[in-house]
Amino acid sequence: MNLPKEVTIIEVGPRDGLQNEKNLISTEDKIAFISKLKSSGIKEMELTSFVSPKWVPQMKDANDIISACLDDNRNFVLAPNRKGIDLLYQTDCKAVAVFVGVSESFNKKNINKSTKESMEDLGPIITELKDKGYFVRACISTSFYCPFEGKVSSEDVVALCSQFVQFGVDELSVADTIGMATPQEAFFLFKSLKEAFPNTLLTAHFHDTRGMALANVFAALQAGVDRFDTSAGGLGGCPFAPGATGNVATEDVVFMLAQMGIETGIDLDKLVEAVKVIEPHLSRGIESKYFGLNT
Ligand code: HMG
Ligand code: MG
Repeated sequence: MNLPKEVTIIEVGPRDGLQNEKNLISTEDKIAFISKLKSSGIKEMELTSFVSPKWVPQMKDANDIISACLDDNRNFVLAPNRKGIDLLYQTDCKAVAVFVGVSESFNKKNINKSTKESMEDLGPIITELKDKGYFVRACISTSFYCPFEGKVSSEDVVALCSQFVQFGVDELSVADTIGMATPQEAFFLFKSLKEAFPNTLLTAHFHDTRGMALANVFAALQAGVDRFDTSAGGLGGCPFAPGATGNVATEDVVFMLAQMGIETGIDLDKLVEAVKVIEPHLSRGIESKYFGLNT
């Protein structure tokens, strides 16, 4: 078996986890959640997004979240366009996640542009960010299936990633947005990406819509991936991807890895405490296995 000794977890709960939550969560409660997550040992995290507050009202307190939660670790803010980047420049945050969908229909629904238009906008923005010393992560949505167009070709994913690598991104986060990938598909796509882009950080982002996310994590590990986006409590979903449910739960991934002797540096008890902080404010229950067995 091809298994790493250590894995980096990128916690996306405060962003992906909450962006689709029906209850408007107070800034104070989000800050308490983030602070508990950080105390569990998480070192990389998506804090929030600079997106239109009309499109995603839950993220409208991005500035306050950034002011309260920035620390010396890697804290990402999502931004899809020039306006988002200009807002980012007014903060002290030095890590940004841009995002685009491989499939046209999804990209149009998510950010109101074709994939080609988004890439034309993002090229000069990424060059500028790199010149200014920012860490840039590119999130690639619908890398396996699109909710509107069905199966997405792996050649299209590799081609889009290749453009991002030419723009100079530090990291590719490749996503199964609607949780339809099988472990076989996950293995082959991540193996191709590892081979194609050996000098760029590669992260896998799985949603657990059909219960295949942990199996997909294992498949991606076999393909050489050692970075995973996960969400505490298994919260998550994109408001513009019908049928997408939560991300793979951080505590389930950390537990599985720990049982296999793979280090993440994350304390599971403290992670459970973080989920307990956000749970009372959510419109849905926590479905992660580890949380259910340990509360
Ligand atoms: P639009 O309506 O075409 O944009 O939306 P616009 O340029 O016409 O602007 C409309 C209004 O939004 C204006 O305000 C702008 O100032 C404002 P108004 O004049 O009406 O008061 N605006 C912004 N405000 C804050 N930050 C910005 C920003 N840009 C414009 N960056 C837009 C285009 C991109 C804004 C919109 O489509 C949008 O906000 N989309 C965000 C969608 C989103 O957040 N999706 C979820 C994140 S992606 C995801 O979850 C997938 C991922 O997890 C991986 C995976 O699982 O696949 C990453
Ligand atoms: Mg996602």
